[in-house]
Amino acid sequence: MTNAVKNKIILGIDIGGTGIKAGLVDISNGSLQSEVLKVKTPRPSNPENVLKAVREVITAMNYKGPVGCGFPAIVHHAVVQNAANIDKKWIGTNSEKLFNRIRGCKFHVANDADVAGMAEMHFGLGKGKKGTVIFITIGTGLGSALFRDGVLIPNTEFGHLNYREADYEFYASNTAREKHKMSWKAWGSQFNHFIEHLRFIFSPDLIILGGGLSKRWVDYKGQITSKVKVIPARLQNHAGIIGAAVFAQSMD
Ligand code: BGC
Repeated sequence: MTNAVKNKIILGIDIGGTGIKAGLVDISNGSLQSEVLKVKTPRPSNPENVLKAVREVITAMNYKGPVGCGFPAIVHHAVVQNAANIDKKWIGTNSEKLFNRIRGCKFHVANDADVAGMAEMHFGLGKGKKGTVIFITIGTGLGSALFRDGVLIPNTEFGHLNYREADYEFYASNTAREKHKMSWKAWGSQFNHFIEHLRFIFSPDLIILGGGLSKRWVDYKGQITSKVKVIPARLQNHAGIIGAAVFAQSMD
């Protein structure tokens, strides 16, 4: 076991379509133990450029040890499988092999919504929740994490369920809201359709909303008429970082 893990401090990194955030996390209680360092996701966001940005962040933090990393795509046994909000060159890349080129670090990479959901299930409103819980992140994309009795079923990608001419992400992410200049009412009713669809398929006991738009819950909660219980997450901005560290601990 490395020193960092013995001390229960692990570096969590959240790679998004727009930004990369990193922070040291005490995995015994999910608290942040450093400032959160933020940089813009490089353009193009190909593997070499993102590796460079992540290396710079880690160098600035002077960190060595295990690193948990959330990534905005399907990550199956470390290999990236799709690329809706990141450069297509990632498809087929073994993300852990790539990031392990950063000296002194051992990476554990998983889907960004899966790790954010893990944080909420460990330290937030999902703690101790039995049954079927769905965690949705509303941001650049529409991410999802599915839990049964607290156990994650990874890489669910509910945002890419077909809807109208495209998929739900196209109509109900924050990018969609901004791009189509939707009012909260219009966007909320699209999002409610998504929630209703998930309820019909999975009969969840609870849906927890994370990501940027979970903070704007009051603006659209009036449109959420689905019978399933829907609540905004307790861990807001930093769930991705905290969950990434929790994930790394579970793998190290
Ligand atoms: C990706 C998911 C990701 C979500 C949020 C979607 O476009 O396909 O893997 O979790 O965006 O970043």
